Amino acid sequence: MRKKVKDKYFKPYLSTQQIDDAVSNIAKRITADLKDEKPIFLGILNGSFIFASDLIRKLDFPLHISFVKVASYIGTRSTGAVTELIGLNENLIGQTVVVVEDIVDSGNTIEKIVNLLNEHGVKKIKIATLLLKPKAYKKDIKIDYVALEIPDDFVVGYGLDYDSWGRNIAGIYKIDE
Ligand code: IMP
Ligand code: MG
Repeated sequence: MRKKVKDKYFKPYLSTQQIDDAVSNIAKRITADLKDEKPIFLGILNGSFIFASDLIRKLDFPLHISFVKVASYIGTRSTGAVTELIGLNENLIGQTVVVVEDIVDSGNTIEKIVNLLNEHGVKKIKIATLLLKPKAYKKDIKIDYVALEIPDDFVVGYGLDYDSWGRNIAGIYKIDE
């Protein structure tokens, strides 16, 4: 069934079962790679909150989970945009950090996050994303754990939004034009 989100229509694209299978798959790979490292999972708000909560409940080893927001603003001294991780209260020095994103599109956001984390003296950064749009991705940073690759269509649900609406839809829906 089509769903109306704000002023646009979306059609079913990925079922809750397909999402759950894909999340289980990367959970197995993450477990194999990181089970002895006591990593810190860093969910990027708002979009990753559902994916992060499902993912970490499939990981049966010691870990921390924390959430941050990425804020961009125009600096007062320079003209360039400054990016900041808001809400980071974990000491990341020497830690293995797994960034948990809802979707990687052009890669601009993940690139900023990786740059900021490197300033915090982390030992290792791994990136886990629910969705990747490979055709749109323009960066060289390796996306370590991709649950699902999707075409360049706009999607909502399972935490992803259209203008802040639709995050509560259980499955993932794509724009119906
Ligand atoms: P990037 O910086 O271009 O990689 O974009 C990443 C951000 O754009 C994500 O964190 C989302 O907030 C947003 N975004 C990109 N594609 C979609 C989509 O299909 N649905 C919802 N949000 C999207
Ligand atoms: Mg987002």
